[in-house]
Amino acid sequence: MARMLTASDVEAAGGKLILAAGDRLTPLARDRARELGVVIEAAGSSSGAAPTSTAAPVAKARVATPASAPVSAARPATPVAPSTASGSRPLVLPPSGALYRRNALGPSGPSSGAADRRPKAGVVGAGHVGAMTALRLAESDLFSEVALVDVVPGLAAGLALDMWHGAGLYGFSTRLSGSDDLAALAGAEYIVITAGKPRQPGMSRTDLTAVNAEIMTSVCRGIRTHAPNSTLVIVSNPLEEMTHLAAQQTGFPEERVLGMAGVLDSARFCALVGLTGKARPQEVRAVALGSHGPEMVIPLSLAFVGDRPIESMFDAETLEGIVERARESGGEVVKLLQKGSAYFSPAESAVTMVRAMVRDSGEVIAACVRSRGAYGAVDTRVGLPVRLHRRGLKEIVPLALRPEEQQALQEAAARIAARIAELPASR
Ligand code: LAC
Repeated sequence: MARMLTASDVEAAGGKLILAAGDRLTPLARDRARELGVVIEAAGSSSGAAPTSTAAPVAKARVATPASAPVSAARPATPVAPSTASGSRPLVLPPSGALYRRNALGPSGPSSGAADRRPKAGVVGAGHVGAMTALRLAESDLFSEVALVDVVPGLAAGLALDMWHGAGLYGFSTRLSGSDDLAALAGAEYIVITAGKPRQPGMSRTDLTAVNAEIMTSVCRGIRTHAPNSTLVIVSNPLEEMTHLAAQQTGFPEERVLGMAGVLDSARFCALVGLTGKARPQEVRAVALGSHGPEMVIPLSLAFVGDRPIESMFDAETLEGIVERARESGGEVVKLLQKGSAYFSPAESAVTMVRAMVRDSGEVIAACVRSRGAYGAVDTRVGLPVRLHRRGLKEIVPLALRPEEQQALQEAAARIAARIAELPASR
């Protein structure tokens, strides 16, 4: 009877596996045979006859690659079984088993054995937000490598190794590495900076300015040296001040220094609308502008549930309550946790921004960028609706706001500008 042979069969084969007619190997078994150098032969193949089943593998094909072969050569794009010494004709092998695993080497992944042209990403700070960001970037499978860096020796390396151990289970082919040296970011096209202290209960984001400014300054000096062509997504708080500082300390063009907050604050608003039971979060559209803090502006004129203006579904008081809760959501989580701040949704928000860039998605999202007078705001860093492209900011998108929304945005920008003027590095 024909058998489906597994990786355990390969391991137990003792160097050579004889396939009877109709026998098949699972993709993992094929990979394992390659790794172990197990020779797979069809029974009776010494006569040179190839197996007839299209699914059945190979006659006399040494599936293994030599132990000394570089990893990249281990999986040729179109695997061809080498001719045997007896001169039987080469056979085209089915693709590597890795191709059959969930998401592995999907559309974004390299073809088997081909050079990996996907960009490299970096994450600085291996706290909860940084670690989760690294994992979610890897899971997107859009990157050749995600390098996680943290000043604490061993922390980033340990977390990256732990995540990599799950690669086959998660189904990604992105390499994960960890280091305490910013030099590990060399070659990164996208870097998410999460380094810095999180809030503790009772603290405002601006209470973190002094300590995080120092950390941001030293991180950005390292990035300027090691990854001078990268695009930055800043997550550290206070967000607008840290985004400004990052631009200043790296000297990068302003299009390549973005702050993550609008995606998160918009998502929180949508999620809170979802709590009413009248809409699912993914049906709600909104953009949170202004600051990642008390001056957050969520223009209700731009909020919809499907195609319906949100104001046609909820009364003004309910909506004001939701906006207020979205504004306070970070603090609400801090208070509940009692130690540290939110990380699932902030990480996902940073990853959403990076993904939008890599995919050149063209979607309108909110991000902290340099305004240069857009929306009548003073020239500062402020949350605005934008489109991103592969290298960062593509454009600030002009959306029609009501006069009071426009006014609130301008006031937010003015307050942010005043805080930025107080930064140690600005003085
Ligand atoms: C928060 C942090 C990311 O709002 O500022 O949870």
